[in-house]
Amino acid sequence: MAVEEPSVGFRFSTPYEIAAVRPLRQTTPAERAAALAAARYNTELLPQELIYVDLSTDSGVSALNTAQLAALAAAPVAEPGMGLAPEASRAYRDLASEFQRIFGFPYVVPVTQGRAAERIWIRLHVKPGSVVAGNMLFPSTRTHIEMSGGKVADVIVDAAHDLGSEEPFKGNLDIDKLRALFSEGRDKVSCIYVEVAVNACGGHPVSVENLRAVRAVATANGVPLFLDACRLLENSYLVKQREPGYSHRPVREIVAEICGLADGLTMSALKDLAAPAGGFIATRDPASYQKAWMQAFLDGAQLGSSAMEVVAAGLRELFATDAYVAGRVEQVQYLWRRLGGGVPLVRPPSGHAVYIDVRSFLPHVAPENHPAEALAAFIYGVSGVRLCKGPPPAPSQSARGTELLRLAVPARKYLRGHLDDVAEAVFYAYSRRAEIKGLKRVEEPGRSKHQPAYFTPL
Ligand code: F0G
Repeated sequence: MAVEEPSVGFRFSTPYEIAAVRPLRQTTPAERAAALAAARYNTELLPQELIYVDLSTDSGVSALNTAQLAALAAAPVAEPGMGLAPEASRAYRDLASEFQRIFGFPYVVPVTQGRAAERIWIRLHVKPGSVVAGNMLFPSTRTHIEMSGGKVADVIVDAAHDLGSEEPFKGNLDIDKLRALFSEGRDKVSCIYVEVAVNACGGHPVSVENLRAVRAVATANGVPLFLDACRLLENSYLVKQREPGYSHRPVREIVAEICGLADGLTMSALKDLAAPAGGFIATRDPASYQKAWMQAFLDGAQLGSSAMEVVAAGLRELFATDAYVAGRVEQVQYLWRRLGGGVPLVRPPSGHAVYIDVRSFLPHVAPENHPAEALAAFIYGVSGVRLCKGPPPAPSQSARGTELLRLAVPARKYLRGHLDDVAEAVFYAYSRRAEIKGLKRVEEPGRSKHQPAYFTPL
């Protein structure tokens, strides 16, 4: 489908109107203080109904479009699951043809979530004792690699650790480090796994030029190149904004070009694809496809037919023009600009979240006193806005003492007014930052280290 340019001289800001709303309750300071105490000062544990604006994640919480709602309402409940015969499933055929048209991979396995895709794909492709070259991969990807007996070699560019640097592609792989890994022992490397719009370090994009260089290294060494493509749409929009030669290219073409450089991908549908459930494995290799299909079947990780219809309805809208992704990224960048003059942020802006540089925000709070969690608790207390520390930092970030607090903006859920309120709450916290003393972790017998921590104020 041709992508049309908007009318010359007029810039559209918001490519949708609101068709249904959910009322939000405005809590009192006393209610919020009680909620914080009950949640043991961990904003992750706050009950949803006491939250005003929730920027804890952008995953699975985007607003649905009317076609997705219609798909949900009309889902043929008696449609059989895919089993081992995808050809027989109408919902699968529809979704697969949409997916193939956009991403260009001949084989696709729809699964329940991104991490289900990773688990299956990594088990197939990471040999025990081997290394996976990556760019600060997401914790679930890293964990699955380690559970398969592999190790992650983080070869992201050094600029990823420099929070204030204006370098436009801080998600890039360092090609010298990547080559060095192969020269240490080519047989040790199972695959190269590239996350686009790298979540851990600020949502920074990977350039097409960098991916071409990575592709060349992969080909020269005979290893496959896989993408964690959760935020591919947003990465492609940032390429359009920043990479020379791409400003006039439709985002769809950039998406297809990036996919064309990879042998396969894993992807969550909960982020850029604005779906409440779903994930994908995509490949060009029929043998891997068959094995992945079988494993998804055995694991019970196949996506149900109504969820497939919702994803397909999303794909049809989100990729028709650049309007969806432009509106989404520009909204996040509005919040970044609004906050940027006043408080220390990770630079430059990205496409799904704004990240506060907590060490600069609260230099007086020692790392062992949980400054990011303390800041999140303070902001909730004054405003009802929920921020969360988000996924645990990568080892290379922990080693440097990097402390970030993420403001993840769900797609199409909030208006500019909500984001202005968030900015006011963050500015207020900054003006009173001397009052934020930190938190002390409270251990409870029988509580696993994987459960959200309990804290008490210092
Ligand atoms: N890869 C990346 C880059 C992610 O950000 C996530 C999830 C996943 C994989 C896993 O996908 O949730 O469908 O299983 N990120 C969420 C977040 C949880 O809040 O950033 P999933």
